[in-house]
Amino acid sequence: MERIYFDNAATTSLDPVVLEAMLPYMTEKFGNPSSIYSYGRESRLGIENARKSVAKILNAHPGEIFFTSGGTEASNTAINAAIRDLGCKHIISSPIEHHATLHSVEHLHHQGVTLSFVKLLPDGHVDLENLRELLAGSKERSLVTLMHANNEIGNLLDIQAVGTLCKEFDAIFHSDTVQTVGHYPFDLRNTPVHFITGAGHKFHGPKGVGILYINENVKITPFIQGGSQERNMRAGTENLYGIIGFAKALELATAHHEEHSKHINDLRMYMAEQLQQHIPGVTFNGDLYGRSLYTVLNASFPKTEKSEMILFNLDINGICASGGSACTSGANAGSHVIRAITSNPNQIAVRFSFSKYNTKAEVDTVIAKLKELI
Ligand SMILES: Cc1ncc(COP(=O)(O)O)c(C=O)c1O
Repeated sequence: MERIYFDNAATTSLDPVVLEAMLPYMTEKFGNPSSIYSYGRESRLGIENARKSVAKILNAHPGEIFFTSGGTEASNTAINAAIRDLGCKHIISSPIEHHATLHSVEHLHHQGVTLSFVKLLPDGHVDLENLRELLAGSKERSLVTLMHANNEIGNLLDIQAVGTLCKEFDAIFHSDTVQTVGHYPFDLRNTPVHFITGAGHKFHGPKGVGILYINENVKITPFIQGGSQERNMRAGTENLYGIIGFAKALELATAHHEEHSKHINDLRMYMAEQLQQHIPGVTFNGDLYGRSLYTVLNASFPKTEKSEMILFNLDINGICASGGSACTSGANAGSHVIRAITSNPNQIAVRFSFSKYNTKAEVDTVIAKLKELI
């Protein structure tokens, strides 16, 4: 059975061109980047060239880019450093963050750090007026941690507006940009943000590698203790081929951004239109027609015995979609994001998320199946 993969917000397949760039670093170029002889120097050069390339694409300095094991480690590092090293005593976040952020801020809250959640508007966007009130009412320095694009409903944050607000109140701003790095152009030299994150596997790069951007004006101590890798900031022998793959995937994504984003958005809008035409009672979660990530379509179906089994039945038919983030399996009862934005328990939310490899014919197949299954 041919499978249809509509879960690209969870992870994407590795681009063969990325694999090709990684392969030599899995075979003949195997030296430890910290070794001083030629094998080591060759590996070090690969890493530093990758860093330069990533920095150039994001319009940052190479010294501001740190390679990590992925988005989770990058966000953990930034959030903990803001409390430990930057004098933040109050965290402002939202209830619809990824668990990499939510569980980090809750952990710090249990250790005594004040935690506030910003209000959400009915379409799931952050209420910027409420954010201003929270910042203005904070007696101590705040860390604002708000994601750029929500991985379940796709809502996009106005990162410039939030950054400007943070500047006004001398707050530290971390944004989880895991769903947008590799999907949108970034201009970090002109973006008022202290930390952003990225994960290679969200844009056809390898899993287990990511970045943390730390603005050059921010000085933090390491999160992971050990050797002197990543300029003493992130100990442990580098994920050499992962880093090579991350940079290659970002280069490819950047080179083809216009063409791929248009293709993916067209598919998403076509699917939304087809769902409305063929599935009675379907609604969409988030700000689909407004500020929204072009890869994600989150649909709700009226709750029935059949629709409750939808993800299971899609899977049996070779169609991969999810009820929320990859960490929450099955029905939308598991999705803290859907629960936070809707009080209607009589619906089943399914996230469809697309990549450059998906086609209109696949959308047609999925719609035909959904007509049977709902
Ligand atoms: C928005 C968001 N943040 C963080 C993560 C975690 O990234 P990683 O799996 O690379 O640790 C993910 C994906 O899983 C995500 O979608």
